Amino acid sequence: MPFSSSEIEAGRKLFAADWQFVAAAGTLERLPPMQGLEIAFAGRSNVGKSSLINALTSRKALARTSHTPGRTQELIFFSASPALSLVDMPGYGYAAAPVETVKTWSEFAKDYLRGRRNLYRVYVLVDARHGLKAVDLAMLDLLDQAAVSYQLVLTKGDEVKEKDVPARIAGVKASLARRPAAYPDVILSSSRTGAGLPELRAAIAALLAERA
Ligand code: GTP
Ligand code: MG
Repeated sequence: MPFSSSEIEAGRKLFAADWQFVAAAGTLERLPPMQGLEIAFAGRSNVGKSSLINALTSRKALARTSHTPGRTQELIFFSASPALSLVDMPGYGYAAAPVETVKTWSEFAKDYLRGRRNLYRVYVLVDARHGLKAVDLAMLDLLDQAAVSYQLVLTKGDEVKEKDVPARIAGVKASLARRPAAYPDVILSSSRTGAGLPELRAAIAALLAERA
């Protein structure tokens, strides 16, 4: 997905703004009022959702990261302008039993994904080392059924050998082929090295522009 230099610049500008915490919600009643577009970051526990939000916004500790999986239990909203909010979601799939599916994940988070009218795109984060797991596929099913547009981001790209990257991306792309709500391109990112971040910022800026 090649971006022009003006698209990359639009992304840089959008994320150079002053991003702030807006709200934390653990129930539907506590969700902040809908305003502008929301873009949510979902993925297994520990995949790097909060780290990615910090890296995108160049804030070290905007979203709380943790060495202990399953830390984020609420939806956390961040914004720099009324036009756009980023939503850090609780991780799924961190159950004692690895066969557990999205079934055990927060009903509230599922309700949010299915029902939030200004939710414009979900970035589903997948560890580049591990690829899609059963629990991720269940999440993609949920998003396809709810017709919520989503795109995959492979995280922790710094942990994958350069020569293994194309095969990793191709493998993940293949599982998106028949998924109606999936964006066909996949972004490889690293919150450590910054790889993929200009592209992800540009993609989000483009979403905002297409809705403006
Ligand atoms: P939950 O909120 O618990 O679901 O986790 P999360 O998905 O928000 O993950 P978080 O950002 O807290 O990161 C989990 C761990 O992965 C931390 O130890 C991070 O330092 C590490 N991590 C995050 N991003 C990267 C990355 O790009 N590369 C590497 N190597 N490690 C990363
Ligand atoms: Mg988190």
